[in-house]
Amino acid sequence: MGIVVLTGAGISAESGIATFRDANGLWAEHRVEDVATPDGYERNPLLVLDFYNKRRRELKSVKPNPAHLALAKLEQGRDDVLVVTQNVDNLHEQAGTKSLIHMHGELNKIRCTECETVFDCYDDITLASKCEKCGTEGTLRPHIVWFGEMPFMMDEISYALHSCELFISIGTSGNVYPAAGFVQSARSAGAHTVELNLEPSLGASMFKEKVHGKAGEVVPVYVNKILSGELEF
Ligand code: OAD
Ligand code: ZN
Repeated sequence: MGIVVLTGAGISAESGIATFRDANGLWAEHRVEDVATPDGYERNPLLVLDFYNKRRRELKSVKPNPAHLALAKLEQGRDDVLVVTQNVDNLHEQAGTKSLIHMHGELNKIRCTECETVFDCYDDITLASKCEKCGTEGTLRPHIVWFGEMPFMMDEISYALHSCELFISIGTSGNVYPAAGFVQSARSAGAHTVELNLEPSLGASMFKEKVHGKAGEVVPVYVNKILSGELEF
């Protein structure tokens, strides 16, 4: 894989979706232990379902911004791009990106804890919702990776990181592993590494190149440099 792009909440901020760790971010208003852990779901499933219902509803009105659109254009211009997102929104898909891994799951998917079937979901889930496959009531949970759970498709991601020439990290604070460690895998594969973020992330020193600014502004500029051949990868 020539180019691996990792995205986080910062790429969707200009579309109006709250990030996690900025002031007024989701983790300022909710305790991680309550809404983003298997234990929290065991204790109060309704609270957890409602947290994700509200965020799923938001997706009906948000639109991709120039950063998402630029990444879709990058993919159209070359055949060796993989976008790995930590985001659970659908803005990369809305922008047209096809080669995409949702490592932390998707708001528009739910999973039955009884039969493990994953379904598309565009509406609210309640404790009375039934699994369409096994018919059990109250077993549907967000198809979201919570703290303590393994992110999705790690083998595919590792393979891509170990064979990439360019690794771009966009809009992520570098707090959450394994995503925060991808830069090191890419470096050890000999890739050029660049961070495009509003401010230096926790792992900023691990990147060879850093561009700090709003994703909607800096991502289109960087993508154009790649597509025009100014940067050669
Ligand atoms: P964070 O909220 O931790 O970090 C967002 C980053 O985006 C920060 O470094 C901001 O400075 C930056 N940022 C904000 N606005 C921006 C903009 N307009 N342009 C560019 N950058 C901007 O979000 P993540 O790093 O994505 O996991 O968080 C990682 C994971 O932690 C999430 O996937 C989620 C959370 O707990 C799960 O829920 C499993
Ligand atoms: Zn089921």
